[in-house]
Amino acid sequence: MKQEYLGMVLPITITSIWWWSCLIRGVDASPQINLLNKGCSQYNATNLPEFYTNLNATFSDLKTQLNKNSTHFATAQQARGSDPVYPMVQCRNYLSAADCAACFAAAVSQIRNCSAANGARVIYDGCFLRYESAGFFDQTTLPGNVGLCGNNTASQATAFSAAAGKLLVDLQLATPKINGFFAATKNEVVSSGSGNETVYGVAQCAETISKTGCQDCLNVAYANLQSCLPDTDGRAVDAGCFLRYSSTSFFPDNQTTNIASFLKTGGNSRKKAIIIGVVVGGVRLLILIVGVFLYFKLSRKPEAARRGDILGATELQGPMNYKYKDLKSATKNFSEENKLGEGGFGDVYKGTLNNGKIVAVKKLAILQSDRAKANFVNEVKLISNVHHRNLIRLLGCCSKGPELLLIYEYMANNSLDRFIFGPKRGSLNWKQLNDIILGTARGLAYLHEEFHVCIIHRDIKTSNILLDDSFQPKIADFGLARLLPDDQTHLSTRFAGTLGYTAPEYAIHGQLSEKVDT
Ligand SMILES: *[C@@H]1O[C@H](CO)[C@@H](O)[C@H](O)[C@H]1NC(C)=O
Ligand SMILES: *[C@@H]1O[C@H](CO)[C@@H](O)[C@H](O)[C@H]1NC(C)=O
Ligand SMILES: *[C@@H]1O[C@H](CO)[C@@H](O)[C@H](O)[C@H]1NC(C)=O
Repeated sequence: MKQEYLGMVLPITITSIWWWSCLIRGVDASPQINLLNKGCSQYNATNLPEFYTNLNATFSDLKTQLNKNSTHFATAQQARGSDPVYPMVQCRNYLSAADCAACFAAAVSQIRNCSAANGARVIYDGCFLRYESAGFFDQTTLPGNVGLCGNNTASQATAFSAAAGKLLVDLQLATPKINGFFAATKNEVVSSGSGNETVYGVAQCAETISKTGCQDCLNVAYANLQSCLPDTDGRAVDAGCFLRYSSTSFFPDNQTTNIASFLKTGGNSRKKAIIIGVVVGGVRLLILIVGVFLYFKLSRKPEAARRGDILGATELQGPMNYKYKDLKSATKNFSEENKLGEGGFGDVYKGTLNNGKIVAVKKLAILQSDRAKANFVNEVKLISNVHHRNLIRLLGCCSKGPELLLIYEYMANNSLDRFIFGPKRGSLNWKQLNDIILGTARGLAYLHEEFHVCIIHRDIKTSNILLDDSFQPKIADFGLARLLPDDQTHLSTRFAGTLGYTAPEYAIHGQLSEKVDT
């Protein structure tokens, strides 16, 4: 509404003068749509009309929620159909309801630039908006978390850094304990120079994460802002939280949170203090040593985040990278004795990792050009994000060694062919067989229609249907056909399909559709 208003400036009425004076007073009325971070998923929705309907429905749902309850946080979901949309919006709590609505409207129009992307996010100073094709409301810290520093250095560098550092520590400690996970506070810069400067800060977590999740996320945010000091401004963005400080006031004074009561240490440490007070020398020293030890253990910074990656499930989480050396020793140097089978894509070995976990290691027999390797990493990333109980979990990969290796969860009962044709023929009862048929169909339906990229298996057969401890089926080898160069996929039955199982239209003409798997 305000934006429309600003468009028609000329008729200066009493109301508009009132409006302007509010605006000029500064921070009090502004949706703060300074863009900090944005991103679109690299995957598009499949059924566009359905997707846009879902997207519009969830956005208007969010809008209603923000309006009706004048809250600053909302989530929604439209999970019907093939292209579900899960959005989340959050305004900084110091924004008025009108500014929050304006920030949300700006975010919606900005995020629509991602057109049909099945996930996207926009982060402003005043609010953020994100949607994905699956729920993400419990995400805390993700790769791509980053600190954004200002361009100016504070004039009283040392004093400013001290005051801002203290402010950030306080926010980091107090915010997770505050209902609603939001705090805004300020701190005086104590310096010998003239004038009294102040540093302002806010911290906020998504309301759908846990207290410890909020804590974890703010720890990372805090670490990310360390390199900004003594710049006069810094912002840390992450999936589940936001942390910002500035030498200029950016929230109304009456929105300041009194965080003092949340900074008091609990009764536990008061008890400790009494003990220290009473007990003499030796014990005091012992406690000190334990304390110092704990301090270093607890305050160790979280592992440095990978930079360059962007935030969000949108950008798929990377698979775990295993060391070639470890896999070699886990499989006893890929010994015959550990061999579980030979598949179209390469041999599979049973491996026992250092931590005792048993895995299946697949040695890929595909060409190792640089392009193939780059492709490999992307496809593996995609496959490792497929989670369904009737699909084998890809745990990670190894592309650094002399071979390309894939690491899967291990299935105790091996594959279905052993129970149909092999030594254990006839040992499954009708109930088990029925469960296997239904489970396999569910796994395929997920690959074809529910995962955000349609994956066609191309080689469904009994030896690719593995059985877990309770004889539930899990489809193996899905997604691997995507690793082959386009021209190889349908010509070579060795790679992308087994003669006798492959659909004739695919084997002969290379026509590929979901029907190939059915
Ligand atoms: C969704 O909303 C946009 C913008 O308001 C509109 O252009 C589009 O036609 C809508 N699409 C559907 C399917 O409702
Ligand atoms: C994206 O949306 C914003 C806001 O609607 C608009 O100003 C901008 O031109 C659009 N395009 C790009 C490429 O950002
Ligand atoms: C804070 O101050 C603004 C004016 O600056 C006023 O409109 C608003 O109602 C106040 N909010 C609270 C919670 O007192």
